[in-house]
Amino acid sequence: MSKKIGYAVVGLGVGKAHAKAAAGSKDAELVAVCDLIKEKLDKAAEEYPGVLTYIDFDEMIKNPDIDIVSICLPSAMHADFAVKAMEAGKHVLVEKPIDITVEAAMKIEEARVRTGLKVGVIHQNRNNANMKPIRDAIQNGKIGKLIYGDFEVKWYRTQEYYDNGGWRGTWEMDGGGSLMNQAVHTVDIMQWLMGDVESLTSHMGVYGHNIETEDLTASLIKFKSGAVATFVSTTCAYPGLNTGIKIYGSKGSVEADSDELQLWSFKDAPEGEEKEMLKKYSGNGSAAALDPTLCTGHTSMVENMISAVKDNVDPQILPLEAIKSVRIVNAVYESAKTGKTVFFD
Ligand SMILES: NC(=O)c1ccc[n+]([C@@H]2O[C@H](COP(=O)([O-])OP(=O)(O)OC[C@H]3O[C@@H](n4cnc5c(N)ncnc54)[C@H](O)[C@@H]3O)[C@@H](O)[C@H]2O)c1
Repeated sequence: MSKKIGYAVVGLGVGKAHAKAAAGSKDAELVAVCDLIKEKLDKAAEEYPGVLTYIDFDEMIKNPDIDIVSICLPSAMHADFAVKAMEAGKHVLVEKPIDITVEAAMKIEEARVRTGLKVGVIHQNRNNANMKPIRDAIQNGKIGKLIYGDFEVKWYRTQEYYDNGGWRGTWEMDGGGSLMNQAVHTVDIMQWLMGDVESLTSHMGVYGHNIETEDLTASLIKFKSGAVATFVSTTCAYPGLNTGIKIYGSKGSVEADSDELQLWSFKDAPEGEEKEMLKKYSGNGSAAALDPTLCTGHTSMVENMISAVKDNVDPQILPLEAIKSVRIVNAVYESAKTGKTVFFD
C-alpha cells in the first residue's frame, strides 16, 4: 500500500474541521497540528492520539512527514504562512478569504507558480448540492439572458463574537467586517454564477456593534454581461436570518436560501419540475447565519485537496479564482469610503 499523505493544520478554530476531515480521510494521516494556545493543542492530542503538536509553525513545517498544510489563521496571516509552507516544500489549503488584499493573495499565486506545489482555497458553499443545478441553468441557457441578481447575507453575530476573536472586525487582521468575513462566501458564489463585475457602487456602516470595520454593506453591482445585482451583507440581522441567492433571467427565476432551493420557475419547464426540484434540493438553509460554529462542508474540500496531491491534478479552487471575491470586497469598501462608483478592468 502506498504511503498516506501527511496532513497538518495551523490554527485550531475552524481548523478543527480540517483536522477532523484529514483524520477521517482514507488517503491521508493527520500528522501535526499547530496553535499558539496550549489547551487547543492538548485537546487535539487527546482527540487524535499520536498527532504531533507544535506552538511554532516554522518548526512544524520542517517535519518531512507533512505533505499538506491547512492554513486556518486570522485572514491577514494567510499569505505569509502559506508562502512559508510552500517554501518548505508543502502543498497548502488556505481558508477563505485567501487573504485580505489582492496584493497579499498574489504572493500565494506567485509562490504556487514558483514552487510548482498545489494550492487550494476553501469556498465550500460552491459544493452545496443546489449550486450545480443553478449554475447549469445559467451556463446551458435554461435561465436565458441574465437580468438581475439579489444577494443578501442577513446574519447575526454578537458583540462577544467580535470581542473574543480579537482579530475579528479589525481592518488590519480581518480586512473588513460582514462582507470580508461572513459574506465573502456569497460574493464568491455571486461572481461564479453571474460572471465578471464591470462596476459597483456601495454604502457601508457600523450599525449594531462596537467594531472598527463595517457590520453592514449595501451595493449595486453591474456585470460585464449587462446584468445587475444588489448585494447586502450584515451581521446585525437578529437572530440570524438567511443567505439569499436569487437570480432572474429572461426565461425564468431561481431563488435559494443557502443550500435550500426555494424557487425554480421556468417558462418552458415541464409540469411538476419545480416541485421535484424543491423536494430534491430542500437543504438545511442558513444555520451559520446565527452560529459561526455551524459552518459545514469542509470535508469535501479537504478531500479534494488530498486527491489533488495524490493524483497530481489541480485542486477545485485555485488562487486566481479565490482572488476574485477579495477584489470585489475591497472595491465595495473603496466605493463606500470614497462615495464613488468603482470600475473594474
Ligand atoms: N470556510 C468557513 O466557513 C470558515 C469558517 C470560519 C472561519 N473561516 C476562516 O478561517 C480563518 C480562521 O478563522 P477562525 O474563526 O477559525 O479564527 P479563530 O480565531 O477561532 O482561530 C484562529 C486560531 O489561530 C491561532 N493562531 C493565531 N496566530 C497563530 C500563529 N502565529 N501560529 C499558530 N496559531 C496561531 C489562534 O490561537 C486561534 O486558535 C479565517 O480566515 C476565517 O475567515 C472560514
